[in-house]
Amino acid sequence: GRNKGCSVWTKSDVVASLPEREPFSHKGSHGKGLVIGGSIQMPGSVTMTSRAALRAGAGLLTVATVSKVISILASSVTEATFIPLEEQEGRISSVEGIEFGYDGVAIGMGMGRHREGKELLEKVLKLSESPVLIDADGLYALKGYLSEVKSRSYPTIITPHPGEMAHLLDVSIPELLEKPFHYSRQFASRYGVHVVLKGAFTLVTTPDEKQWVHTTGNVGLAKGGSGDVLAGMLLAMVMQPQTVELALNNGVWLHGSTADLLTEQAHSTYDLLATDLIDGLSKTYRTI
Ligand code: APR
Ligand code: MG
Repeated sequence: GRNKGCSVWTKSDVVASLPEREPFSHKGSHGKGLVIGGSIQMPGSVTMTSRAALRAGAGLLTVATVSKVISILASSVTEATFIPLEEQEGRISSVEGIEFGYDGVAIGMGMGRHREGKELLEKVLKLSESPVLIDADGLYALKGYLSEVKSRSYPTIITPHPGEMAHLLDVSIPELLEKPFHYSRQFASRYGVHVVLKGAFTLVTTPDEKQWVHTTGNVGLAKGGSGDVLAGMLLAMVMQPQTVELALNNGVWLHGSTADLLTEQAHSTYDLLATDLIDGLSKTYRTI
């Protein structure tokens, strides 16, 4: 493939582009976000995504999930509001009840890979008049109608790890990892999506094939939950007054830098947990 060049997203890029909190802004100015996901088998994922979105700066947050998960979440995501969804075997079976007037939506974390997932995702993509970020099980649901994503009038963002990206592309993980820049560009332009390909180095690619590489973050992030936290931070970022490409780059940087700061100051790469990143984000914000 052709090489358009690719730069590293640095702290000075963040300092230069992260929107300030205006003194007279109100909660509506900082975005009304919706998180759809979770199941009785995986209640923790949406908890982490939601708390991360709030800590990263979302103005208002709603979580749509099955009622049992709401009971689990309610005390740890005190700032959010909830929409109970219909369920089957502990998983979301319908998005009936959601009124789509949000500034950003994240879907897929802990949702499960059931058949209904495809229908849910399709409705969300059609009805949302805002950026939609698709992560985790949502990416499995997406595979069926990738071609329809291109016709959306609002940004679509996918945040796969290499296994999820290889699945979407129908290539093996080693094949993908041999040419991650190429595959990301090809996928982003073919389907008109923003791709955040996660890994030890994370690549951000826009539909017009602009590309950045991230070197923040460390092996302390190689633990279940770090991806869910990233999804929440990115949701908050895309709702702030900055372009989607700036939002994604700033969000990935904040996530990785928080891991770096915490493993230097308070934790080790052994014990770092995804939830530590949520609490540690304050430290990173205070450096910029
Ligand atoms: N160095 C730097 N960053 C890393 C490293 C590393 N060695 N390893 C992981 N990360 C970062 C990634 O860049 C990404 O931001 O941690 C995050 C991991 O995200 P995911 O792979 O989505 O992990 P998560 O969803 O939290 O948990 C894994 O995914 O495939 C499913 O079933 C699987 O439960 C598992 C879950
Ligand atoms: Mg994940």
